[in-house]
Amino acid sequence: MSRPVRSFLFVPGDSEKKLSKVATSTADAVILDLEDAVSANRKSVARELVAEFIAGADRGRPGPQLWVRVNPLDSEHALPDLAGVVGAAPAGVVVPKINGPADVARIAHYLDALETAHGVDPGSVRLLPVATETARAPFRLGDFADAGIDRVYGLTWGAEDLSAALGASTNLGSDGQWAVTYQFVRSLTLMAAHAASVEAVETLYVDIRDEAGLAESSRRARAEGFSGRIAIHPAQVDVINEAFTPSATEIEFATRVVEAFASGVGTVALDGRMLDLPHLKQAQRVLALQPPACQ
Ligand code: COA
Ligand code: MG
Repeated sequence: MSRPVRSFLFVPGDSEKKLSKVATSTADAVILDLEDAVSANRKSVARELVAEFIAGADRGRPGPQLWVRVNPLDSEHALPDLAGVVGAAPAGVVVPKINGPADVARIAHYLDALETAHGVDPGSVRLLPVATETARAPFRLGDFADAGIDRVYGLTWGAEDLSAALGASTNLGSDGQWAVTYQFVRSLTLMAAHAASVEAVETLYVDIRDEAGLAESSRRARAEGFSGRIAIHPAQVDVINEAFTPSATEIEFATRVVEAFASGVGTVALDGRMLDLPHLKQAQRVLALQPPACQ
């Protein structure tokens, strides 16, 4: 099992300056954006810039995985975006404003054809749907588990477009936390991702200056079962990477739990506590998230 992406940094696809920072970014992945960060009159400029950028990237380099966010399926830009970037063999495509797995299956089929047309490895371009950005989408979240779309890397959620779709003037409650509607779709996304055996990716943290708030909410997200998070500014990346990396203490304990179950028993005692199979599963999960050994 390869380690999940901890940080996905959004980079506006039409900004040569910001693209020039990608190679040295410590993000596990960047999402070169063709959608909301790019104005209508810059769409084709961004598409060409991003395709050239990915095609020109040094594949052997240690930098971030290169993902692209395309425009929504019901826009005139979606097909030109897919057709324009797949030949460059991005690591994956982020799909915004889907209404459910049927939209994602359609994109997966387009990718089947485009990979073949461009000689890109079949199935190599992964998909990360933003699965809560329309009023319909939350009702279909559970259906990803049976949709059988192999390229889906994970599911993520977003509050900004959903609040716009609902005619809401805010997505926060009076306590400054997500209002109940957004907590609800966040939980559904988490459960839908695990039901489908894919990664759950936490949404962005809007206040780019609030490092403590980002760290705390990211640690909480990992504790709840998310394996990574969207970043919107380079200053957020290392904070997110750290929050989604298990500590040495956690790794040491998880290693002991796995060793305790090595003989194949179903229940063991460790440090005076009873552990059964859910604990083993949790320990294996922690080990899957640990950083690669030093070389
Ligand atoms: N990717 C790469 N480089 C970035 C970056 C990003 N997302 N955000 C900022 N930088 C660079 C800036 O170019 C600047 O470089 P410099 O020091 O050489 O001038 C440096 O990091 C510091 O940036 P800063 O001045 O703090 O931010 P800004 O005012 O230039 O930009 C945002 C603020 C929010 C507009 C910017 O972070 C951004 O574009 N974020 C991504 C937006 C996006 O893609 N949204 C869509 C998904 S929600
Ligand atoms: Mg959006």
